[in-house]
Amino acid sequence: MLKMSHLSKVYRTEVVETYALRDFNIDVKEGEFVAVTGPSGSGKTTFLTIAGLLETFSGGEYHLDGIEVSNLNDNARSKIRNEKIGFIFQAFNLIPDLNVFDNIEVPLRYRGMKAAERKRRIMESLERVGLASRAKHYPAELSGGQQQRVAIARALAGSPRLLLADEPTGNLDTQMARSVLELLEDIHRGGATIVMVTHDPELAARAQRNVHVIDGQVVDLSEDPRFHGAVVAAQGGARSD
Ligand SMILES: Nc1ncnc2c1ncn2[C@@H]1O[C@H](COP(=O)(O)OP(=O)(O)O)[C@@H](O)[C@H]1O
Ligand SMILES: [Mg+2]
Repeated sequence: MLKMSHLSKVYRTEVVETYALRDFNIDVKEGEFVAVTGPSGSGKTTFLTIAGLLETFSGGEYHLDGIEVSNLNDNARSKIRNEKIGFIFQAFNLIPDLNVFDNIEVPLRYRGMKAAERKRRIMESLERVGLASRAKHYPAELSGGQQQRVAIARALAGSPRLLLADEPTGNLDTQMARSVLELLEDIHRGGATIVMVTHDPELAARAQRNVHVIDGQVVDLSEDPRFHGAVVAAQGGARSD
């Protein structure tokens, strides 16, 4: 469903050129739950913003549901983003002047959904994250973990087929991080494809597949002798060969 081939992303200023991604290759199948790990600055957020059609790319190909994304105009991109993709991004936080209900409603309004349908979806998604009683609260009146769950509810309300999460548990304590992950697993069981960037090895281990990004490229740790020992150790097993 999400396939990038030889993709590159260059950020240019007058003085420097930064390759955030170079020869980046990934193929995420419909219904997969993939965890993306890698050092800070390796290009993980850049990958997710391009995957979510929030950013354009400099070279290579990106097919989303079989459509070559660079052929789409802005309108088509927005439409796909709004209808298919849910975001749980740290930088994509809640609007402070809007209460919880209204925050979740924003993307649904963009879709031109009727008021009754919006309300049904909003309350249903708030119930799913255990915050139905907080619909009228403002973000500042919620804990960090609760705000994160509102952001998840906002993504859920759109019933996205593809959910992109950038360190969704980054600001949460262990207990809260586990409950957020359980929620994502639940969404995954409901049929969504999930791509989650995480620093947390415990969370990464619960995904179906791990993709590691170093210096703007996907590396296969199992085939790279420099990392082999680390992978075997992480898997907790001894090799027989
Ligand atoms: N808007 C931008 N302008 C210039 N450079 C950027 C921009 N966004 C990211 N970069 C650079 O691209 C690289 C990858 O960044 P990022 O995707 O945020 O990494 P990660 O999420 O893995 O920490 C970094 O070197 C970063 O400095
Ligand atoms: Mg990042």
